[in-house]
Amino acid sequence: MASAGTSRLCFRACQFRKCPVGKRKYSIYSEIPVIPSIFSRNYEKCCPSSSIPAMCTFSKNCSTSKIYQTGPMSKYEVQPYTLLENDLKDVYTYIRKSLQQNTHIDDLYEISTYYFDGKGKAIRPMVALLMAKAMNYHIHKEDVPLLTSQTEVGMITEMIHTASLIHDDVIDQSDSRRGKPSVNVMWNQKKVTMAGDYILAVASMLIARLRNNDVTLVLSQVVNDLVQGEFMQLGSKETENERFDHYLTKTYKKTASLIANSIKAVTILSGANEELCNLSFSYGKNLGLGFQLVDDLLDFVASSAAMGKPTAADLKLGLATAPVLFACEKYPELNVMIMRRFQEPGDVEKAFELVHKSDGLEQTKYLAEKNCQEAARLAESLMESPYQKGLIVTADYVLNRLK
Ligand code: FPP
Ligand code: MG
Repeated sequence: MASAGTSRLCFRACQFRKCPVGKRKYSIYSEIPVIPSIFSRNYEKCCPSSSIPAMCTFSKNCSTSKIYQTGPMSKYEVQPYTLLENDLKDVYTYIRKSLQQNTHIDDLYEISTYYFDGKGKAIRPMVALLMAKAMNYHIHKEDVPLLTSQTEVGMITEMIHTASLIHDDVIDQSDSRRGKPSVNVMWNQKKVTMAGDYILAVASMLIARLRNNDVTLVLSQVVNDLVQGEFMQLGSKETENERFDHYLTKTYKKTASLIANSIKAVTILSGANEELCNLSFSYGKNLGLGFQLVDDLLDFVASSAAMGKPTAADLKLGLATAPVLFACEKYPELNVMIMRRFQEPGDVEKAFELVHKSDGLEQTKYLAEKNCQEAARLAESLMESPYQKGLIVTADYVLNRLK
């Protein structure tokens, strides 16, 4: 069921992508089931089915459009971060505690906790805990507290993510993150790299303590995917088709896998059957792809003040994300710039301008919308509860966030 939905999503996106410039209308493509093309051919291969942290009040950080209005509006009054406020506070307290308990080196503790300051969006633990509560409700037909192991998966998820950000900041030589100097600016790069390793090491110990082989496999897969995704990003492909497949696979591995597999892990722990585990995974995969597409879009349209990090950063790093890849259709001169990774003087500015003149941003938003709608559709099939509604609201938030 989940993968059929994904293909349909894909078909529409490709059709959207292929239609003549200037004639694209969202309304048409939301009605007609259409023919697979560049995305759908390899989509499943690319993205397999198998403090309150910036504690975004949704109203503050996202626009108001609703993506999935099949039920009463009351469901949109659910505020996932508020719903999970105490559980999320626990996650951050436990992370800091576990990083303190496993070292006697002050520097290592300080560096490794630098990003656990409650200023991140905490979307990953939030979604993991939300799915855990929604699944517990679905299975037991009543509100059941989180299992300790499920809260621990929320922690582990945030730890793996943060370890990867620390390594990423060293690789990207970034200047700022979340409105403060990035970790690599504050400390020596060798120490910073090891602090990332340390977080990953402590997360691995926490995984081992769960004593659940399936969960261990699922979470280990995430770490492998992150490395594969980051490595893929260092390379590029010659042709347009190959490039989009490469981008989607990279996006799945770098971003969506962590969300998909961590919510699969909490679902396994809830005692759910395989069908529910797959549903959970699919929800996370769609949400994760939507999240990254929006991130790639925001890199072109948001202010650096809102993002807490420089914008147009992807182009400056030589990366061609969805808005550029879509823009190539109208402005093939972008191809040569992509191949030289925007290294020539003026490339970044020119590519930025062409993306804005093309409909690459709209197409990226459209594809993100399809992914988020699919995530919401999957959440709809769970038993109605505040948490299930929270999963739907989260899909809306991911699509409409402004930072
Ligand atoms: C942010 O990318 C980075 C990631 C989502 C993952 C990076 C993965 C690695 C460095 C592999 C090593 C993994 C571990 C677990 C140690 P970005 O540069 O696109 O986003 P940004 O703008 O937030 O920096
Ligand atoms: Mg980076």
